[in-house]
Amino acid sequence: MHYAISYVSTVDTDLETQEIKDLLAHSKKINNERNITGLLLFSEGNFFQVIEGNKMKVKNLFQKIKDDKRHHGIIKIFEKEITRESYNGYESSFLSEEAKYNDPSLQYYINYLKVLDPKSQNTIKSILRAFIS
Ligand SMILES: Cc1cc2nc3c(=O)[nH]c(=O)nc-3n(C[C@H](O)[C@H](O)[C@H](O)COP(=O)(O)O)c2cc1C
Repeated sequence: MHYAISYVSTVDTDLETQEIKDLLAHSKKINNERNITGLLLFSEGNFFQVIEGNKMKVKNLFQKIKDDKRHHGIIKIFEKEITRESYNGYESSFLSEEAKYNDPSLQYYINYLKVLDPKSQNTIKSILRAFIS
């Protein structure tokens, strides 16, 4: 059974830029090793994440993420069973001011959403737009 969870959250103010970049890189490595697909973006103090994969794996990972003291104010956007994953692998990105305007991968992230149902697609698109603008 494939499962997907998406949320936004706020970074802990004590976290240094390098620690955030390390967290993004570490999540990408581990998730790709464990067949968790999705996306983790960081922009101006907020995280946006989608995790997809085996239901138990995704639920267990989300529990760990919720308990992680490096962020707070987690707002779940959706949690549901899916017919197949939307993402081919796991991506993470630190969106600096500069990257927001120049990073071609943002369009790539949006293209990933095609297989989600229209309602979820629209929700994610508007959140991504808020992250980008
Ligand atoms: C915003 C945020 C997103 C995270 N995303 C992931 C993730 O996608 N995959 C992952 O393995 N850990 C992620 N983590 C780290 C987990 O919370 C946890 O530290 C990690 O799963 C290691 O747990 P373990 O040592 O018990 O295996 C994230 C942490 C934060 C703060």
